[in-house]
Amino acid sequence: MKFLVLAIPVVIISGLVACSDKIDSSSNKVESAKLVATIQDIMVAQIDPAADALWESVSSTTTAEGTEDKQPRTEEEWSIVRHHAITLAEAANLLVLEGRRVAAEGKLLEDSHVPGVLTADQVQKKIDLDPHRFANIAYEFQDYAKEALVAIDARDTEAFLIAGGKLDQACEKCHQQYWYPDAVNPAKFPPLTTHK
Ligand code: HEC
Repeated sequence: MKFLVLAIPVVIISGLVACSDKIDSSSNKVESAKLVATIQDIMVAQIDPAADALWESVSSTTTAEGTEDKQPRTEEEWSIVRHHAITLAEAANLLVLEGRRVAAEGKLLEDSHVPGVLTADQVQKKIDLDPHRFANIAYEFQDYAKEALVAIDARDTEAFLIAGGKLDQACEKCHQQYWYPDAVNPAKFPPLTTHK
């Protein structure tokens, strides 16, 4: 009977090993990821919705009638924004994985009709020229997502609002360098995000 109890975990572990591609046997860590999505997919499916939800959860609006502060209040509301901050922080890792393509073959990037907006091939070349530079910008973005996470865990609305603003700037920094570096008139091409 004792033998049976011991045998079950062994079978499970060896089953896991058999399923994975490459496992470093010394640490049992997977060495390579199996990529599914493009950068464009990650922007649209993960980063954009998580960032929007995070930004929309907190605001301070001053009108003639006074100031209206919107912020997460219940545990459930804080927990929802926490999940979005985690999505953003980990999405940075997804962006920089080796082999990640900018977009699927033939896919147009958003705003591709605007003068100065690069094509997917051009963005790809820019990233491939110096992937570490791209990664540094992604990790800077991750730092702000982590800052938001710390603020959320401390239930510190003010710090959360500040981290949200820095996140917005980090989106812009990457986009200005990799997506629309040659936009003719940046004043006519405001940031995608119109939250305030
Ligand atoms: C490390 C770089 C990087 C960061 C940080 C980044 N992006 Fe992007 N994003 C890109 C690149 C490169 C493109 C152009 C390729 C594309 O269109 O997906 C892009 C494109 C997009 C697009 C257009 C997708 C499409 O359909 O073509 C959206 C929307 C977007 N980003 C949202 C965001 C938001 C919101 C943030 C911040 C919360 C953000 N991104 C942060 C690199 C970044």
